[in-house]
Amino acid sequence: MKIISVVGARPNFMKIAPFIKAIDDYNALNNNSIEHLLVHTGQHYDDRMSRSFFEQLEIPAADINLGIGSGSHAEQVGQTMIAFEKVVKMEKPDWVVVVGDVNAILACSVTAKKEHVLCCHIEAGLRSGDMDMPEEINRLVADRLSDLLLTPDTISSENLRKEGLADDKIVFTGNIMIDTLERNRVKASVLKIEDIIKNNRIGGGSKSLLEIKSENFALMTLHRPSNVDSKEVLEPIVRFMLDEVCRDMPLLWTVHPRTRKMLESFGLWEEIMSHENLIPLEPLGYLEMLKLNMHTKIILTDSGGLQEECTVLGTPCLTLRWNTERPVTLIEHGGASVLVGNNINRIREEYQKALLKARKPVRPELWDGKTAGRCLGAILDYKITT
Ligand code: UD1
Repeated sequence: MKIISVVGARPNFMKIAPFIKAIDDYNALNNNSIEHLLVHTGQHYDDRMSRSFFEQLEIPAADINLGIGSGSHAEQVGQTMIAFEKVVKMEKPDWVVVVGDVNAILACSVTAKKEHVLCCHIEAGLRSGDMDMPEEINRLVADRLSDLLLTPDTISSENLRKEGLADDKIVFTGNIMIDTLERNRVKASVLKIEDIIKNNRIGGGSKSLLEIKSENFALMTLHRPSNVDSKEVLEPIVRFMLDEVCRDMPLLWTVHPRTRKMLESFGLWEEIMSHENLIPLEPLGYLEMLKLNMHTKIILTDSGGLQEECTVLGTPCLTLRWNTERPVTLIEHGGASVLVGNNINRIREEYQKALLKARKPVRPELWDGKTAGRCLGAILDYKITT
C-alpha cells in the first residue's frame, strides 16, 4: 500500500508526527509493506513555524515540498492543487491522508478525488458553524470528499451523520494531537521557564522577568483574522491585556507573524515592546509551549489546538472566539475552556472567574495517546464497497 500524507501549516505537524510513527511501527513488524511519502505544501516555511516542529517531534524531512508559501487563500489553494496534482499523477498512491483544517486539506482532498485516489481525513467532523472562518470551509469540503472520516470525538461523528455522510465512512478514533502531548510530556517538563523566555524573548518585560514562577503568569496567543486584522477589535484586546492582566501578573505573549504585522501597522507594537510586565515572545516550539501551558495560571487564546491541550492539562482557558468547532473542550462539556469572543466586558468577567479556578485535568473518551494506531488500523481495514 502506498500512502501520501500532507502537511501545510504549524497545527498539522503535531497531528502527522504520531501517524508517521504508527506507520513505522507497523512496517517494522510487516516487512515494510506500507510505502509512505510526506508532502509539505510549504504554507508555513519559517524555521519557527515549521522546521523546529520537525526537529522536536522527530518528523522525517518531507519527501516533497511544494514551496507554496504565503499568499491569499485562492493563491495558496490554487497553487497547491496545481503542484499536488503532479505529485499524485507521478506517485499514484492508494491513499491521500489529510489532517486538521488548514488550506492544504481543501486543496489536496479535491485533487485526490479528481485523480480517483482514496482520501482519509484525520480530525473529521469538527464544525464551528461559522462560514466566515476559512477553516470551516476547508473542513466541509474535505469531509464531503473523503472516503474515510476519522473523528476525534463523538460530537464530530454525529455532525457528519447529520450532514448525511454514510455511517461506514465514519470511525471514531480519538484525538491524535493528544498522542503527541503524551509522548512529549516528560521532555517538556524538564525545560526551564527562564530559559524559554531567555531564548525566545523579543523585548519588553523588564520588571516581570524575575517574577516568573509557576502559576504566577498568564499566557496569550492570538492569530485569527477575526481578532487581529482590524484595529477596532485588536486595540481593545491589547488595552485589556496591558491595563488589566499585566496589572495582576506578568503576561507572556507568543506573537504569530500575522499578529505582529498587524500590531506594527496599527502603531501598537512599540507600546507592547516597552511594557514592563508584558513579555512578547517569538512563536515557540512545541515543547516550550507545552511547558508554559503546564505552568501558566491562565491561557487567553483563539487557537483550537490549545483548547484541546488545556482540557487534558486542566489549564483554565479563555477562548477569544464566539464559537468553537471543539465543544468537547468547553466547561459545559467537562473541559477547561470558556468562549469569551472579543467583547471586553465578557473577557473581563470570565477572566476574574478563571483566576479563582484550580487546574482540573480531564480526558475525553479516546484522548488516550493511542489514536494514531487506530487511524492507521481504520485505513488498513477499509473495504472498497463500490
Ligand atoms: C494558518 C491556518 C490556521 C492555523 C494557523 C496556525 C489556514 C486557512 N489557516 O493560518 O488554521 O490556525 O495557520 O498558525 O490554513 N507567515 C510567516 N512565516 C511563515 C508562515 C506565514 O511570516 O512561516 C506569515 C504570512 O506571510 C502571513 C501570515 O504569517 O502574512 C499568516 O500566514 P497564513 O499562511 O496566511 O496563515 P495563518 O494565519 O498562519
